[in-house]
Amino acid sequence: MRVVHTVAELRAALAGQTGTALVPTMGNLHAGHMSLVELAKRHGRPVVASIFVNPLQFGAGEDFERYPRTLAADCEKLAAAGCDLVFAPDVAEMYPVPQTFTVQPPASLANDLCGAFRPGHFSGVATVVLKLFNLVQPRVAVFGKKDFQQLQVIRELVRQFNLPIDILAGGTLREADGLAMSSRNAYLGASERIQAPHLQRELAAIVAAVQAGEREFEALCATAGRHLRMAGWRVDYIALRDAATLQAPTPDSTRLVVLGAAWLGSTRLIDNLDFGLGHPA
Ligand code: PAF
Repeated sequence: MRVVHTVAELRAALAGQTGTALVPTMGNLHAGHMSLVELAKRHGRPVVASIFVNPLQFGAGEDFERYPRTLAADCEKLAAAGCDLVFAPDVAEMYPVPQTFTVQPPASLANDLCGAFRPGHFSGVATVVLKLFNLVQPRVAVFGKKDFQQLQVIRELVRQFNLPIDILAGGTLREADGLAMSSRNAYLGASERIQAPHLQRELAAIVAAVQAGEREFEALCATAGRHLRMAGWRVDYIALRDAATLQAPTPDSTRLVVLGAAWLGSTRLIDNLDFGLGHPA
């Protein structure tokens, strides 16, 4: 596996390749990322993983500075997983001039759910992902369903800009107690780590209620939020949406997703469960 840090090296390494599979990451890789590499390997070669903590997608006061940077360990894991090439640029390489051209996702997506609490976040994500797509020119790109709204933003980016890239979604990997794997889990203190699966349990309770026939969606979400607040969480949102559109479910919705974002101390966790109506998640 090669590791390159510059655009010139990346382009030279990929010259003539037409079947590249890209796995964009911000590093601090865990088993969830490795499952995305496995998925990428089944759909394209060479497999390229990018590792870049993208300042554009962090707001003021967010965790850009403290986001864990673990390049050597990440490269060991990627090599073991069969990745072919790692692109790990620094900020000056990715943004040699201020990135004043940015991608603005549709407001209905970008200002909703996480976007309502992290203004500009999805513009930052879409902008760096478009740059990565231009640099790597992949045939397929793999993103985790853990960031369900991000996945939707990227699918829309590809659709509206006619990008010839198939977007593949990798399922969320969980710890034994149900906590979704995330690089940010590293921020949790010992007692927070014990509490952290509570978010997933509240989402699962909503799924079970809906599958049992309950249709008072707002009440279900409000109850879950109340349970979390009573346990000491600060809740940004708990919401139930159509999984295809991320809008409110309609009578025609066949697949739903329940999404949540909440804070344990200074750590913001997100999670989601998508499920078919009448079928187990
Ligand atoms: O999901 C992430 O790790 C990031 O948002 C991404 C897609 C690599 C863009 O920086």
